[in-house]
Amino acid sequence: MYDEVSTFIEGACTVMATSSNAPSSAPAAEFAAPINVNFQSGELTGAGVKSLVRTISDLTGIFRDEAARRALDPNAVIYRVQTHAPAPEGAAGGLFWGTTFIEPGLVGDEYFMTKGHHHADRSRSEFYLTTAGLGALILMDENRRTTFQPMRPGTLHYIPAHTAHRVANTGETVLSFLACWPSDAGHDYESIAREGFSARLRKVNGAPVLVEEK
Ligand code: PA5
Ligand code: MN
Repeated sequence: MYDEVSTFIEGACTVMATSSNAPSSAPAAEFAAPINVNFQSGELTGAGVKSLVRTISDLTGIFRDEAARRALDPNAVIYRVQTHAPAPEGAAGGLFWGTTFIEPGLVGDEYFMTKGHHHADRSRSEFYLTTAGLGALILMDENRRTTFQPMRPGTLHYIPAHTAHRVANTGETVLSFLACWPSDAGHDYESIAREGFSARLRKVNGAPVLVEEK
């Protein structure tokens, strides 16, 4: 079987080499180079992969218990995001890929979590695929109804249009998940900063419980 595959690959290379010598009026397309995804850790490697880090000091106003947040080391990394953006930001028709890694921990009784956002273009949807750890995808619809979906390695989550989303790490180890979203979706953090989600995922008697905001 592997012989067949290598014959096939060699064949494909031969075809490519032959066709590159053929006269052509169109310039060769500039395809983005592939990157690598580690399916155990979720880590992305390759040219152009970018990283951002969110520390506890970047998350002012996100957690219910602001005093508990302030008591933590302001430089502690809560999550980091790797992004592969082969299309320009805002371009219609492109796709972005990313991995988010959320540390385990609590601010008061609330799990470490992402800021959460709507897409700036609310008609845009997204996939999340869990690679490692345990978590919860918190979703809020246009009527401010909030629910959550448990995340564990292999769970694939569809975030429909018009749905605010954030992820909490409910486990004891790093939670990582892959994401794929349209390059013209954008991130609207402003409305979450202003209005928040209608419920928070809190640790109650050792388990995650969605508690309505008063
Ligand atoms: O595009 C997404 O939905 C993700 O890549 C998130 O941006 C990532 O999980 C970090 O969350 P947030 O953007 O809410 O800080
Ligand atoms: Mn998103």
